[in-house]
Amino acid sequence: MRIAIVSDIHSNLHALDAVLQDADNRSVDLYHCLGDIVGYGAFPQECCNLIREICDETVFGNHEHAVLFPEHSMSFNPDAKKAINYTIDQLNEDTINWFHSLEPHLVLDDFTIAHGSLRSFDEYVSDATIARLSLEILQTDLLFVGHTHYPEGYQYDLETKSARAMDLIGEGEAVLEDGLRYLINVGSVGQPRDGDPRAAYGIYDTETSKIEIIRVKYNLKAAADAIIKAGLPPHLSKRLYAGR
Ligand SMILES: [Fe+2]
Repeated sequence: MRIAIVSDIHSNLHALDAVLQDADNRSVDLYHCLGDIVGYGAFPQECCNLIREICDETVFGNHEHAVLFPEHSMSFNPDAKKAINYTIDQLNEDTINWFHSLEPHLVLDDFTIAHGSLRSFDEYVSDATIARLSLEILQTDLLFVGHTHYPEGYQYDLETKSARAMDLIGEGEAVLEDGLRYLINVGSVGQPRDGDPRAAYGIYDTETSKIEIIRVKYNLKAAADAIIKAGLPPHLSKRLYAGR
């Protein structure tokens, strides 16, 4: 089975459409979402509709949490807070109820999905030391996360109890080996921050144990212009071009 993992769409409908089209062309059987469907971009309701239609399983991210509990979004910068207020205005009641039903992480057949880490939806896994904290308590051999908007991977050796960064950075593929645990960050569909403005997502092939991180060009100008038209902070539009 080929499973597409999408994360951090951030209301970027143009990027999400392009990723779903790309995944369809690559014969994907199933889709899962790692949260942060909303925030920053102009199309929160449309992105939620699409994710609910396409994805088999979805966990919530810190931006869904901020929509439900705006009083707990103290760590958000002023632009992100403005986008959360815009998002709250745009979402219908059914979507809010759906957010309430989502879990912070899910253990699926032979892998686990979470937004930030296994320890918290708001933890940024940015190095091997932090990755190890999730990998040592993982019940499966594979964990998919998002949140940092950096596509990358970490592996954990069960014998030595040590974690290290993989060569899988930005885009590319890796075949998972027995005896190791893996944490794979699939990057961000709608707001990449690794300097590459193309949308990012992952495909996991359960038969070959291969992980692919894929980058997809999309109509970036349309997404950026829509942010301005919606009255959102211009910085949120500009950063799409830089991929930062
Ligand atoms: Fe995010």
